[in-house]
Amino acid sequence: MVVLTDRTQKRLTMQTGEIAPDTTAIRSLDWDRDRFDIEFGLQNGTTYNSFLIRGEKIALVDTSHEKFRELYLDTLKGLIEPSQIDYLIISHTEPDHSGLVKDIVQLAPEITVVGSKVAIQFLEDLVHQPFKRQIVKNGDQLDLGKGHILEFVNAPNLHWPDTIFSYDAGTQVMFTCDAFGMHYCSDSTYDEDMSAIEADFRFYYDCLMAPNARSVLSALKRMDKLPEVTTVATGHGPLLSHHVTEWLDRYRRWSQAQAKAETSVVVFYVSDYGYSDRLSQAIARGITKTGVGVEMMDLKSADPQEVQETVSRAGGMAIAMPPASNKAATAAVSTILAAVKSKQVVGIFESYGGDDEPIDPLLSQFRNLGLKEGFAAIRVKETPTEATYQLCEEAGTDMGQLLTRDREIKQRKSLDSDLDKALGRISGGLYIITAQKGDIKSAMLASWVSQASFKPLGLTIAVAKDRAIESLMQVSDRFVLNILEEGNYQALMKHFLKRFPPGADRFEGVKTQTATNGSPILTDALAYVECKVESRMELSDHWIVYASVDAGRVSKADALTAVHHRKVGNYY
Ligand code: FEO
Repeated sequence: MVVLTDRTQKRLTMQTGEIAPDTTAIRSLDWDRDRFDIEFGLQNGTTYNSFLIRGEKIALVDTSHEKFRELYLDTLKGLIEPSQIDYLIISHTEPDHSGLVKDIVQLAPEITVVGSKVAIQFLEDLVHQPFKRQIVKNGDQLDLGKGHILEFVNAPNLHWPDTIFSYDAGTQVMFTCDAFGMHYCSDSTYDEDMSAIEADFRFYYDCLMAPNARSVLSALKRMDKLPEVTTVATGHGPLLSHHVTEWLDRYRRWSQAQAKAETSVVVFYVSDYGYSDRLSQAIARGITKTGVGVEMMDLKSADPQEVQETVSRAGGMAIAMPPASNKAATAAVSTILAAVKSKQVVGIFESYGGDDEPIDPLLSQFRNLGLKEGFAAIRVKETPTEATYQLCEEAGTDMGQLLTRDREIKQRKSLDSDLDKALGRISGGLYIITAQKGDIKSAMLASWVSQASFKPLGLTIAVAKDRAIESLMQVSDRFVLNILEEGNYQALMKHFLKRFPPGADRFEGVKTQTATNGSPILTDALAYVECKVESRMELSDHWIVYASVDAGRVSKADALTAVHHRKVGNYY
């Protein structure tokens, strides 16, 4: 069933369908959610998935975003009289899934809300009225009758510390909310076409789950103890049923790789306070791009012992300023201060929550303890924009690079010298990649560029994983390849080789025009081509980006392309 809003054609729609015996998916389709809001970077909209299980008792698993209030509640009422629902299972309390909990509790005052201890605590702040509750732990079961015995799996940090999965033994459906999801909106309820969605699946993992890789592995271990899972009913995007093993294996592989990182940073944030969560995700993503591991910890609910242990084994800490009025969070900051060591690095950022602890006193305490700053304090003075998130991501990358610098230099020295010199004889041209997406733009000097196909015309570029521009070169993104001219490239090369501070405008003082695809063209380049990313291949330290080319121009017919001759092969 599809319901269209009158106001905005095909912008917010509903879809319902049976996914297993007695089990109905109620999917809120948000076609145009396109803000560059970290994991929404691919701009394919999203869905908020909720599920109704009708045993002898009736359970609703999660709700929807409040923007769907009317549509969702009308759809639900078309399926069941809400007061007949016995249980509301809360997988996670972020408002994109729990935005209508209060409405459901009002429509069904006798309903029992089922969730983790943390989820129930968080809900009290969200619902502001008494409700029946049942706190569940890992392994607890809830028998709905007709074979639908739900078993709960503790899955903290996927995405907040409140998360649980629910496995229905009767249907072998696992309800996982954020985990294994993706921001991808289409009429397909399922994952039939893997190639259409795998880039979104990966991007979402990188943004939301990679910083919680250890928690992903713990949850997978708990899932391994359950009988077979035939459908993963996610909270975002299509449900996984055609390639379940492959999707779960990818999470396992990617998380194992993340968890192997020799150095890690703890990112402290406060779930559901200001922009703490989103900003900390951007910082975490910037850090993971450098191969440094991340552990996310919620200051409000973290166990002091765990804070102490995590800090003492980390190379650094990034801390979102908590609300001054929250005692648990401010106590956690004191625990961090007591646990840090002088060789660690620290970065602090405001949450813009209206009650932030001031940054400077905390920063001087860290300085007095001998810690270096991994990035300059980020002061957020207005509602975060795309540029704020870009700044945070780049600050995270700076911190990761600071922590890995010595190791990188050592690795460069360790190559066999003959091989190193031989490899250095591979030459390339000199290029500058430029890209703009929404309000943010970036650029990178490149040399590992090669034409790769005739039909369609296409080329490949190797982009180091920790490059800022990598975030603007996801599948479907557009960019410009500027080709530099022999004898006339020094000024541009010098400019773009500079180390830019996080969030800096890389084009200041550079002459540019705008390409049809919106990215900057460097006026002083010899030629340019407009490109669209078609696919990406992952290597250990680079992405190979394959792009189709649809327009281009040469400014001087007789000039030659600048060539990059190298002496060694273990660096650019
Ligand atoms: Fe989809 Fe963390 O909420």
